Amino acid sequence: MKTKILLLAALILFGINGYARNNATEKANKILVVYFSWSGNTEYVARHIAGLTGGTLFRIEPEKPYPTDYKPCTEVAKAEKDSNARPAIKNKVADWDTYDTVFIGCPVWWWTAPMIINTFAESYDFKGKTVVPFCTYASTYRDETLARIVELTPDATHLKGFGAVDRDTTGIEAWLKEIKVIK
Ligand SMILES: Cc1cc2nc3c(=O)[nH]c(=O)nc-3n(C[C@H](O)[C@H](O)[C@H](O)COP(=O)(O)O)c2cc1C
Repeated sequence: MKTKILLLAALILFGINGYARNNATEKANKILVVYFSWSGNTEYVARHIAGLTGGTLFRIEPEKPYPTDYKPCTEVAKAEKDSNARPAIKNKVADWDTYDTVFIGCPVWWWTAPMIINTFAESYDFKGKTVVPFCTYASTYRDETLARIVELTPDATHLKGFGAVDRDTTGIEAWLKEIKVIK
Protein backbone atom coordinates (compact mmCIF):
# COMPACT_ATOMS: atom_id res chain seq x y z
CA MET A 1 0.00 0.00 0.00
CA LYS A 2 2.79 2.39 1.07
CA THR A 3 4.66 1.64 -2.17
CA LYS A 4 1.49 2.32 -4.17
CA ILE A 5 1.00 5.71 -2.48
CA LEU A 6 4.63 6.62 -3.08
CA LEU A 7 4.34 5.58 -6.70
CA LEU A 8 1.17 7.65 -7.11
CA ALA A 9 2.82 10.69 -5.51
CA ALA A 10 5.83 10.32 -7.81
CA LEU A 11 3.55 10.06 -10.86
CA ILE A 12 1.61 13.20 -9.85
CA LEU A 13 4.80 15.14 -9.18
CA PHE A 14 6.36 14.06 -12.45
CA GLY A 15 3.16 14.89 -14.30
CA ILE A 16 2.96 18.42 -12.88
CA ASN A 17 6.64 18.97 -13.53
CA GLY A 18 6.39 17.72 -17.08
CA TYR A 19 3.38 19.92 -17.74
CA ALA A 20 5.15 23.00 -16.39
CA ARG A 21 8.23 22.21 -18.46
CA ASN A 22 6.22 21.75 -21.67
CA ASN A 23 4.39 24.96 -21.05
CA ALA A 24 7.64 26.82 -20.49
CA THR A 25 9.09 25.38 -23.71
CA GLU A 26 6.04 26.45 -25.68
CA LYS A 27 6.12 29.95 -24.24
CA ALA A 28 9.86 30.29 -24.75
CA ASN A 29 9.69 29.21 -28.33
CA LYS A 30 6.63 30.49 -30.12
CA ILE A 31 7.59 30.56 -33.77
CA LEU A 32 6.46 32.69 -36.67
CA VAL A 33 7.49 31.84 -40.22
CA VAL A 34 7.27 34.99 -42.33
CA TYR A 35 7.89 34.80 -46.06
CA PHE A 36 7.51 36.62 -49.33
CA SER A 37 7.19 34.49 -52.44
CA TRP A 38 6.51 35.41 -56.04
CA SER A 39 6.59 32.06 -57.86
CA GLY A 40 6.02 29.68 -54.95
CA ASN A 41 9.49 28.37 -54.09
CA THR A 42 9.91 30.33 -50.88
CA GLU A 43 6.36 29.46 -49.90
CA TYR A 44 7.16 25.78 -50.38
CA VAL A 45 10.26 26.05 -48.18
CA ALA A 46 8.41 28.16 -45.58
CA ARG A 47 5.71 25.48 -45.33
CA HIS A 48 8.38 22.85 -44.86
CA ILE A 49 9.97 24.86 -42.03
CA ALA A 50 6.58 25.47 -40.42
CA GLY A 51 5.79 21.77 -40.67
CA LEU A 52 8.97 20.83 -38.85
CA THR A 53 8.86 23.58 -36.21
CA GLY A 54 5.12 23.94 -35.60
CA GLY A 55 5.49 27.63 -36.50
CA THR A 56 2.69 29.88 -37.69
CA LEU A 57 2.92 30.94 -41.34
CA PHE A 58 2.64 34.55 -42.44
CA ARG A 59 2.79 35.35 -46.14
CA ILE A 60 3.76 38.94 -46.95
CA GLU A 61 1.17 40.20 -49.43
CA PRO A 62 2.13 43.24 -51.49
CA GLU A 63 -0.58 45.86 -51.76
CA LYS A 64 0.20 46.08 -55.46
CA PRO A 65 0.73 42.58 -56.87
CA TYR A 66 3.86 42.02 -58.94
CA PRO A 67 3.42 41.23 -62.64
CA THR A 68 2.81 37.54 -63.14
CA ASP A 69 5.17 37.30 -66.14
CA TYR A 70 8.86 36.88 -65.38
CA LYS A 71 10.40 39.72 -67.39
CA PRO A 72 7.98 42.46 -66.25
CA CYS A 73 8.42 41.24 -62.67
CA THR A 74 12.21 41.54 -62.91
CA GLU A 75 11.80 45.07 -64.25
CA VAL A 76 9.52 46.17 -61.40
CA ALA A 77 11.88 44.54 -58.89
CA LYS A 78 14.90 46.30 -60.42
CA ALA A 79 13.15 49.68 -60.39
CA GLU A 80 12.22 49.17 -56.72
CA LYS A 81 15.79 48.31 -55.86
CA ASP A 82 17.23 51.25 -57.77
CA SER A 83 14.86 53.71 -56.09
CA ASN A 84 15.28 52.19 -52.60
CA ALA A 85 11.49 51.70 -52.56
CA ARG A 86 9.36 50.43 -49.69
CA PRO A 87 6.53 48.54 -51.43
CA ALA A 88 3.41 48.60 -49.24
CA ILE A 89 2.26 45.44 -47.48
CA LYS A 90 -1.45 44.60 -47.41
CA ASN A 91 -1.58 42.37 -44.35
CA LYS A 92 -0.38 42.55 -40.76
CA VAL A 93 0.90 39.92 -38.30
CA ALA A 94 -1.64 39.32 -35.55
CA ASP A 95 -0.25 39.01 -32.01
CA TRP A 96 3.29 40.03 -32.99
CA ASP A 97 4.30 40.38 -29.33
CA THR A 98 3.56 36.73 -28.58
CA TYR A 99 6.29 35.40 -30.91
CA ASP A 100 9.85 34.79 -29.76
CA THR A 101 11.43 33.39 -32.90
CA VAL A 102 10.72 34.87 -36.32
CA PHE A 103 11.90 33.12 -39.47
CA ILE A 104 12.08 35.59 -42.37
CA GLY A 105 12.33 34.15 -45.85
CA CYS A 106 12.37 35.50 -49.40
CA PRO A 107 13.69 34.80 -52.88
CA VAL A 108 16.95 36.37 -53.98
CA TRP A 109 15.97 39.28 -56.24
CA TRP A 110 18.68 41.10 -58.07
CA TRP A 111 21.45 39.85 -55.77
CA THR A 112 19.65 40.66 -52.52
CA ALA A 113 16.32 40.53 -50.64
CA PRO A 114 13.28 42.06 -52.39
CA MET A 115 12.59 45.60 -51.18
CA ILE A 116 9.33 44.48 -49.59
CA ILE A 117 11.46 42.73 -46.95
CA ASN A 118 12.73 46.18 -45.96
CA THR A 119 9.10 47.30 -45.57
CA PHE A 120 8.37 44.31 -43.38
CA ALA A 121 11.48 44.72 -41.22
CA GLU A 122 10.75 48.40 -40.66
CA SER A 123 7.12 47.72 -39.67
CA TYR A 124 7.74 45.68 -36.52
CA ASP A 125 9.66 45.92 -33.27
CA PHE A 126 12.35 43.24 -33.19
CA LYS A 127 13.64 43.92 -29.69
CA GLY A 128 13.81 40.64 -27.80
CA LYS A 129 13.12 38.55 -30.94
CA THR A 130 15.33 35.89 -32.45
CA VAL A 131 15.40 36.17 -36.22
CA VAL A 132 16.28 33.25 -38.47
CA PRO A 133 16.83 34.20 -42.11
CA PHE A 134 16.16 31.90 -45.05
CA CYS A 135 15.98 32.35 -48.78
CA THR A 136 15.51 30.53 -52.06
CA TYR A 137 17.55 31.26 -55.15
CA ALA A 138 18.54 29.97 -58.57
CA SER A 139 22.31 30.07 -58.22
CA THR A 140 23.78 33.24 -56.75
CA TYR A 141 23.76 35.73 -53.85
CA ARG A 142 22.44 33.40 -51.17
CA ASP A 143 24.83 34.63 -48.46
CA GLU A 144 24.32 38.30 -49.32
CA THR A 145 20.55 37.88 -49.06
CA LEU A 146 20.74 36.10 -45.70
CA ALA A 147 23.09 38.83 -44.48
CA ARG A 148 20.68 41.50 -45.69
CA ILE A 149 17.85 40.07 -43.57
CA VAL A 150 20.18 40.20 -40.56
CA GLU A 151 21.17 43.76 -41.39
CA LEU A 152 17.52 44.80 -41.65
CA THR A 153 16.71 43.52 -38.16
CA PRO A 154 19.50 45.01 -36.01
CA ASP A 155 17.51 44.90 -32.78
CA ALA A 156 17.04 41.12 -32.96
CA THR A 157 19.47 38.37 -32.12
CA HIS A 158 20.13 36.03 -35.02
CA LEU A 159 20.60 32.36 -35.69
CA LYS A 160 22.41 30.89 -38.68
CA GLY A 161 20.32 31.08 -41.83
CA PHE A 162 19.64 28.69 -44.70
CA GLY A 163 19.45 29.08 -48.45
CA ALA A 164 17.58 26.58 -50.61
CA VAL A 165 17.97 26.23 -54.35
CA ASP A 166 14.44 26.56 -55.72
CA ARG A 167 12.37 24.03 -53.70
CA ASP A 168 15.16 21.76 -52.57
CA THR A 169 14.51 21.13 -48.88
CA THR A 170 17.54 18.87 -48.41
CA GLY A 171 19.40 19.85 -45.27
CA ILE A 172 16.62 21.88 -43.68
CA GLU A 173 15.87 19.44 -40.88
CA ALA A 174 19.59 19.11 -40.03
CA TRP A 175 19.94 22.91 -40.03
CA LEU A 176 16.96 23.34 -37.67
CA LYS A 177 18.55 20.79 -35.34
CA GLU A 178 21.93 22.49 -35.58
CA ILE A 179 20.49 25.86 -34.53
CA LYS A 180 18.47 24.03 -31.85
CA VAL A 181 15.06 25.18 -32.98
CA ILE A 182 14.01 21.52 -33.07
CA LYS A 183 15.38 18.45 -31.32
C1 LIG B 1 13.18 39.70 -60.03
C2 LIG B 1 13.98 38.45 -59.85
C3 LIG B 1 15.34 38.54 -59.58
C4 LIG B 1 16.10 37.40 -59.32
N1 LIG B 1 17.43 37.52 -59.00
C5 LIG B 1 18.15 36.39 -58.69
C6 LIG B 1 19.53 36.50 -58.30
O1 LIG B 1 20.12 37.58 -58.21
N2 LIG B 1 20.20 35.34 -57.99
C7 LIG B 1 19.57 34.10 -58.08
O2 LIG B 1 20.22 33.08 -57.81
N3 LIG B 1 18.26 33.99 -58.43
C8 LIG B 1 17.54 35.10 -58.74
N4 LIG B 1 16.20 34.98 -59.09
C9 LIG B 1 15.57 33.65 -59.02
C10 LIG B 1 14.81 33.47 -57.71
O3 LIG B 1 15.58 33.88 -56.58
C11 LIG B 1 14.41 32.01 -57.45
O4 LIG B 1 13.74 31.49 -58.57
C12 LIG B 1 13.56 31.88 -56.21
O5 LIG B 1 13.55 30.55 -55.76
C13 LIG B 1 12.14 32.33 -56.45
O6 LIG B 1 11.41 32.27 -55.25
P1 LIG B 1 9.82 32.41 -55.22
O7 LIG B 1 9.28 31.27 -56.07
O8 LIG B 1 9.46 32.24 -53.78
O9 LIG B 1 9.45 33.73 -55.76
C14 LIG B 1 15.46 36.12 -59.39
C15 LIG B 1 14.11 36.04 -59.70
C16 LIG B 1 13.36 37.17 -59.94
C17 LIG B 1 11.90 37.07 -60.26
